[in-house]
This record gives sequence, structure tokens and C-alpha cells, in this order.
Amino acid sequence: MIKPVRKAVFPVAGLGTRFLPATKAMPKEMLTVVDKPLIQYAVEEALEAGIEQIIFVTGRGKSALEDHFDISYELEDTMRARGKSLAAIDGIRQKPGSPVYVRQQEPLGLGHAVWCAREIVGDEPFAVLLPDELMVGTPNFLKQMVDAYAGVGGNIVGALEVADSETDKYGIISPGAVDGRLTEVTGLVEKPKGKAPSNLMIPGRYILQPEVMRILETQGAGAGGEIQLTDAMAQLIGKQPFHGFTFDGHRYDCGDKAGYIQANLALALAREDIGPSVRAFAQSLLG
Ligand code: G1P
Repeated sequence: MIKPVRKAVFPVAGLGTRFLPATKAMPKEMLTVVDKPLIQYAVEEALEAGIEQIIFVTGRGKSALEDHFDISYELEDTMRARGKSLAAIDGIRQKPGSPVYVRQQEPLGLGHAVWCAREIVGDEPFAVLLPDELMVGTPNFLKQMVDAYAGVGGNIVGALEVADSETDKYGIISPGAVDGRLTEVTGLVEKPKGKAPSNLMIPGRYILQPEVMRILETQGAGAGGEIQLTDAMAQLIGKQPFHGFTFDGHRYDCGDKAGYIQANLALALAREDIGPSVRAFAQSLLG
């Protein structure tokens, strides 16, 4: 029997050093694309995909994230008193008891961050979403993966082609048989030095079985001296079904300055309210 994916883990303890000074006193996940913080895009993706329990793995200096998903009493009260619409913030607040926040006390790597959620995840399959990867598609990326998971079960990671020169920045898949959007995963390596097994990278979306938590328990440091999720996942290959999923949509790497600006431009151009004026301005800039 394939157990449904009800829980999603959002590792949000990272320091965001690539975006300094913007992220000195503000979590990088609160950076906005047009008018919405990155974390909200990722949480909405999960909820639309049927996730019921949101789990943030957070750290010191990240309280703005908790406030964002809570009631903003003063703001809401003042807006109501002034007869202003609350439409822009309606629905951000989650149901009582969710999100759950657990702390990653030290920045020991993505694998360690995910492992910090083990008590909340329990004995269930779960999703992991990295919010600095902004995914735009219909249905959204996680929903497409959840639909594929209903057919094959096991573990599924996003699979996205990158240039050969980029493979040393990511978790890379050794691909096996291809069936539509699903590719069998025969190996995984984090940030390969030298020749990569393919140019299929993992773009920050995962559906994992709880056994990965047991592996992470004793997982040593890997690439970059960090405890890598990729290394723990690699140990499930051959024991459980493991697939890569090719997303029908667009990825914006908002952990990178150029990718972040591209996301802002693309999503602004797609907006009915500001799209036309942004388009005219961009055209005038480009001559
Ligand atoms: C992490 C993962 C890597 C994945 C990437 C996607 O790397 O370790 O496997 O491909 O996210 O963004 P990081 O960007 O944290 O170095």
C-alpha cells in the first residue's frame, strides 16, 4: 500500500550569506518575489499538493517566518477599523497547531536539517521543499510529484537538466530507465568533483520514505564537510523504489542573485496589475 504524503519539511535555518546585506537581520526565505515572500510560495505549493502538516526547520534569527504565518493582530485590527480589505493576507495564517517549528541548532547541512524534523515526521512518507527554488507550473511541482508518487510510491526527487558546467553545484542523479516523466535513479552524488554521472540535478523537491531518517541518524559529513541529504538518499536505492521526476514548468533559482531578479521580472510581467508598466519600462531600458 502506498501511504499518502501528508507532511512537508521546509529547511529554513540557512544563513543566506549569498544575499548579504539584505539577509543580515531578515531570513532569506522572507525575500519577496513581487509582493510575496519565497517561503509563502513554497508553503502554498505544498498545501495545493495536499500537504496537511507544515514543518519548518528553523534557527536563531528566523522569527519573522513564524510571525508571517501567524495572526498580525495590530495590522488586521487597524485595517478592519479603516475599512481596508484583508484579501492580501487572508489565508496565510495556517490552521491552529500548524506550522510546527523545530530548531536546527547548528548549520551542519541539509541532511542534518531534515533529520531535525524526525520526531514530527514520524513513520510516514514526507515531502521536502527548499524555498529558494521557486517553481512555477500548473499543476505545481509538488502536486505533479505527488500524482506520480500515487503510481510508483517509494522515493521521488525532482530531476532537472543543467549545463555540464553547473553539475558541481548540485545533487546529481545517475539515471536508469525512463518512463514518461519518471526516470529510475540508480545512483546519487552530491556536488560531484570531476565528471558527473549525468547533468540531471535535484532541484529542491523531494518525496521521501521515513527510513531516510534512520540513515541520517548516523550519516557522516560529505561534500563541503556537511551532512548531505543526497548521501542518505543514495543508501535507499535498491531497497525502495527511487525515481527522478521531470517537472513540466519553470524553475527560478532564487538562491542566486541573477535567478532571483529573473523570478521577479518574470512574475511581475505575468501580473495583470503591474505587468504592462514593467514591460514598457524593461523595453525602454533595453532600447
Ligand atoms: C542543496 C542540495 C542539492 C540540491 C540543491 C538544490 O544544495 O544539497 O542536492 O541539488 O540544494 O538547490 P545547496 O544549494 O544547499 O548547496
